[in-house]
Amino acid sequence: MKLRWLNLTAAAALTLGASQAMAADMPPLAASSGCTACHAIDKKVVGPAWADVAKKYKGDAAAKDALVGKVKAGGKGNWTEVTGGVPMPPYSPRVSDADIGTLVDFILGL
Ligand code: HEC
Repeated sequence: MKLRWLNLTAAAALTLGASQAMAADMPPLAASSGCTACHAIDKKVVGPAWADVAKKYKGDAAAKDALVGKVKAGGKGNWTEVTGGVPMPPYSPRVSDADIGTLVDFILGL
């Protein structure tokens, strides 16, 4: 069963090609919430690469609350050297608190 899944995944990755396979790594919730307009896993779009966000806050126990707050209320200032000072828009109440928590967990887990 597991082997079969691996084979299917490998086949899909080959069919899609590297760049699309990378884009597919964004969770569906990130696309449906609008995050993918400005974020990718591995490169800056408008906002910082999520992999860089994970790196910046690695080992910071307060990061989850701070980032949930940032996604809910928006803001700028933490990535000015990457973004040139563009703000992150506020997402509450457009995206539920539970979904924002799930997205931040995903980002910090990268
Ligand atoms: C209009 C563009 C845009 C969209 C859409 C967007 N972001 Fe951002 N995001 C940014 C920018 C710009 C920053 C950098 C803010 C800063 O300098 O502090 C950022 C920063 C972040 C950070 C790091 C915050 C920090 O203080 O270090 C996280 C986490 C994040 N975004 C998550 C999300 C999530 C989750 C979504 C979807 C619900 C999302 N973003 C949608 C532009 C966007």
